[in-house]
Amino acid sequence: MWVYLNGEIIPADEAKISPLDRSFTFGDGVYEVIPSYNQELFLFEEHLQRFKISLAKTFIPAPSELDNLENILKKLHVKNEYHNQSFYIQITRGVQDSRSHMASENIVPTLFINSQKLDINPYRGNPNKEGLRVRLEDDIRWQRCDIKTTALIGNILSMHDPSLETVDEILLHKDGILNEGSKSNVFLVKQGKVYTPSLNQNILPGVTRNFIISLLKKNNIEVFEEEISIDSIYECEELWLTSSTKEIQPVAFIDDYKIPTKKTEQLIWTKALKFFNPY
Ligand code: PDD
Repeated sequence: MWVYLNGEIIPADEAKISPLDRSFTFGDGVYEVIPSYNQELFLFEEHLQRFKISLAKTFIPAPSELDNLENILKKLHVKNEYHNQSFYIQITRGVQDSRSHMASENIVPTLFINSQKLDINPYRGNPNKEGLRVRLEDDIRWQRCDIKTTALIGNILSMHDPSLETVDEILLHKDGILNEGSKSNVFLVKQGKVYTPSLNQNILPGVTRNFIISLLKKNNIEVFEEEISIDSIYECEELWLTSSTKEIQPVAFIDDYKIPTKKTEQLIWTKALKFFNPY
């Protein structure tokens, strides 16, 4: 596997980052995940835009190579060969010799990129495949989930609790209102209408979420961006998750509750997945 680190494409096992990098000591960094299909980057400009916003919100200066990101990703794509890949691009505030909460003035951001094979969404070929299993949990994360930060322990903590069952995704709620998944946004269909939590809530403005909303609207399917109570998910007809690596995937089980099944042709998520065609 090949990676990019601070100006060079090198074999992954030759990449070295100091343990004094602030991402290691403070989780002080931001990242993006960009998919490619058939060797073409998908929604690159939208991801770059959000990356720049994450940098601005964390006061991490954008490294100059960011202007050349598309070319760097294309070169790495060729090196790593897979047809479809997901690129993980991380920028940290940089390496600091002595530990201090406040970064030193001359600190230089670290830019690291790796890519891996992106498996095709299994629901694309088989919409009847059983949906995902999710667990509902209190959202214990910080109040700035609009920033795509590498500090993700709030998202992954309960996945490592050995007393809990392994699930595909965790749905996070605050005071009875659904926010998002630990690694995805969420959509719900109730009485034939599509809902998704609004960006005023403590969620990541998902690039896939925004793209799907615009696709649905273009196809005359209205999307209501508003609060979803956790009670209403037990009355829903469909629940889907969206992300750059999942595209759109349906949920079948919320804890022990099974969402009643419907005929594939009646489902809105299967239509949305047809509109969403990056191939
Ligand atoms: N996760 N919400 C959270 C908390 C996420 O981590 C993600 C994506 C999303 C969906 O965002 P987008 O559609 O822009 O991918 C929502 C990625 C895939 C990850 O961290 O691996």
